[in-house]
Amino acid sequence: MKRIEVKTQHKSYDVLVGRNVLDKIGTDLTKYNSKALLICDRNVYRYHQSKINKIIHSNKKFYFYLFNPSEKNKNLKSVELIYKHLRQSNFSRKDIVVALGGGITGDVSGFAAATYMRGIPFYQIPTTLLSMVDSSVGGKTGVNFLGYKNLIGAFYQPQKVYADLNFLETLPLREIISGAGEIFKYTFLADEENYFMIRNKLSEIILQKKFDENLIIRCIQIKASVVEKDEFETSGIRKILNLGHTFAHAFESAFNFQIKHGEAVIAGIFASLVVSEKLGLITNSYLKKYFSDFEFLPFNKKILKADLKKIINFMKSDKKTSDNKIKLVLASKPGNIFIDVQVDEKIIEKSLKELFQFYKTV
Ligand SMILES: NC(=O)c1ccc[n+]([C@@H]2O[C@H](COP(=O)([O-])OP(=O)(O)OC[C@H]3O[C@@H](n4cnc5c(N)ncnc54)[C@H](O)[C@@H]3O)[C@@H](O)[C@H]2O)c1
Repeated sequence: MKRIEVKTQHKSYDVLVGRNVLDKIGTDLTKYNSKALLICDRNVYRYHQSKINKIIHSNKKFYFYLFNPSEKNKNLKSVELIYKHLRQSNFSRKDIVVALGGGITGDVSGFAAATYMRGIPFYQIPTTLLSMVDSSVGGKTGVNFLGYKNLIGAFYQPQKVYADLNFLETLPLREIISGAGEIFKYTFLADEENYFMIRNKLSEIILQKKFDENLIIRCIQIKASVVEKDEFETSGIRKILNLGHTFAHAFESAFNFQIKHGEAVIAGIFASLVVSEKLGLITNSYLKKYFSDFEFLPFNKKILKADLKKIINFMKSDKKTSDNKIKLVLASKPGNIFIDVQVDEKIIEKSLKELFQFYKTV
């Protein structure tokens, strides 16, 4: 088991990564003389019932709440139901919320914990690849609103994160691919050595369903180092984590969340690379090299049916947009990331057409 410390402005916390990390949480939580609400992803409970029951029975004060995770349920109504549960069980500020599940369960539970009584302690047990390498670390919590992704939210760091790789054994292939989308972005966020290490281990995940602890640790370390420098996305450094995401959120919204977040991120990063080439940030031969290095990543062909005008309109209403101008995070090479690049919508349209044409023919 490996411990990674995340040091933010207001708080430091540990992320534990490994196999059988789950055993630690029962021991940790029994130390507190407080109530805990375990908000548990319904599907994960189905697969891992005995392990989860062991946590619940480790403490007489454990309350249990089964949550149906979906982008449709990632809303204020779900948060309200959690508030009701906390209120009915007389939860106070010294009591705690534990989220066990993927990114949706974590984001919704985290927002409820951040806002109930102005904030009660919050623990994360991520169970998807995506939530282990990304969403459980860094303190972004929130819900969708009026069809817009994560429009309502709060920065709220967890007390501790327990990333137990044993959960990944039951993850469906489509969810593995979705997690791969967020791992894809990390290849560009550090240096060339990091690029090859992550690329190779990512291909093992997709081609052999082999989850390497060191890969997950590396991704969390990169995320932690970025979050430590810019916890609230004020200096801008944190924006590098949004590589491909302005496209991705537009794809998700345009398909009414029928495509997975990570699938959208895969397409979004490829689209951003094409834009980078159009702007002269990378040469055509490098663009081809990046496409070839990651050709093992499945591309959800549903995205090819997207209405380009609709995508561009969603991009214009992205949280990162101001004055109706689209701003993107772009990469020229591993470790060289540009934030807030204002891009003309004609270039966006041209890049999407080119990307879609490429995937129509492969
Ligand atoms: N807070 C952040 O910083 C951040 C970062 C990236 C993404 N996100 C958000 O995360 C969400 C996506 O998270 P996700 O991909 O984990 O989706 P998810 O929470 O919907 O989980 C995906 C599916 O896998 C199932 N599942 C979870 N763990 C499983 C397991 N071990 N075995 C079998 N099935 C399992 C779930 O029930 C669900 O059906 C999006 O809403 C996205 O916006 C947040």
